[in-house]
Amino acid sequence: ALIALRPLLDHAAAHDYGIPAFNINNMEQIQAIMQAAAETDSPVILQASAGARGYAGAAFLRKMVEAAVEQWPDIPICLHQDHGASPAVCQQAIRNGFTSVMMDGSLLEDMKTPASYDYNLTVTRRVVDMAHAVGVSVEGELGCLGSLETGEAGEEDGVGATGILAHGQMLTDPEQAADFVAITGVDALAVAIGTSHGAWKFSRPPTGDILDIDRIAAIHRRLPNTHLVMHGSSSVPQEWLRIIREHGGDIGETYGVPVEAIVAGIRHGVRKINIDTDLRLAMSGAIRRLADTDRCEFDPRKFFKAARDAAAGICRERFEAFGCAGQA
Ligand code: G3H
Ligand code: 13P
Ligand code: NA
Ligand code: ZN
Repeated sequence: ALIALRPLLDHAAAHDYGIPAFNINNMEQIQAIMQAAAETDSPVILQASAGARGYAGAAFLRKMVEAAVEQWPDIPICLHQDHGASPAVCQQAIRNGFTSVMMDGSLLEDMKTPASYDYNLTVTRRVVDMAHAVGVSVEGELGCLGSLETGEAGEEDGVGATGILAHGQMLTDPEQAADFVAITGVDALAVAIGTSHGAWKFSRPPTGDILDIDRIAAIHRRLPNTHLVMHGSSSVPQEWLRIIREHGGDIGETYGVPVEAIVAGIRHGVRKINIDTDLRLAMSGAIRRLADTDRCEFDPRKFFKAARDAAAGICRERFEAFGCAGQA
């Protein structure tokens, strides 16, 4: 059944696990996530960005998710809008049947310019009023991750006492987080604790202290009833990078967030873990490999199936590593 984010994350908090929130853009990604969830008996968060709505259209996204609900009636599914740029965007998503919305007021509507704290409070509060009136959950964001547009990364050694990382990342302040939740009433809060969007997170193999776990713990202590969200949580699997390079791709040395670091975050209140890049790498890698090794193939279903199987493999691993398996 389709359910809101709040009850899914309440269950995750009560049972100490985290739920991967995978980005969806097409049928194969939805099927990959659902297949893996069915095999591991996991609850599901499907999230669609503005880019996904531009690619597939809100109607197709809704209908494909309805199909998933019909095919897997026993798996709880949350349909979440990722990075809403304004209250109007969130309102539209609610009309389109989303059961959860993210109001990303950490940035202005251009989704580039860091916003003032007052702006963030105002737009997020407005969305909470609107969404809660109809049973839809809300995720807010406080702090700034690396750029959504370029995926430009923070540097792992850039964490300073001021909470500002290299490349302008602004880490979440625990006191301000408590104030933000008290005023807005969000169900879930995305925090900036060292991750960034896209494939270019870290230029060197990450060490054990790659995330600011103390900061996550401090935020969680002040907000024990608010579910923390980690964006930019792809692990950038080195085996898929190798396959991409072996079959004609050109992606330079880069590293993501180790699964063990995410699991440490889950121990301190992280309940929703956003993953998009890993599915992109696995799917495009599988397509490259098939195109390269079976040069006579031209049935697109063969390519899409290889991509779907590769994505399902990532999903299974994350459902298991985050303790989500067996919880549906
Ligand atoms: O956080 C951003 C997600 O990776 C979605 O990316 O805007 O290209 O769909 P997108
Ligand atoms: P990645 O780019 O690390 O996959 O993060 C995705 C994300 O945060 C979507 O909101
Ligand atoms: Na989101
Ligand atoms: Zn994000």
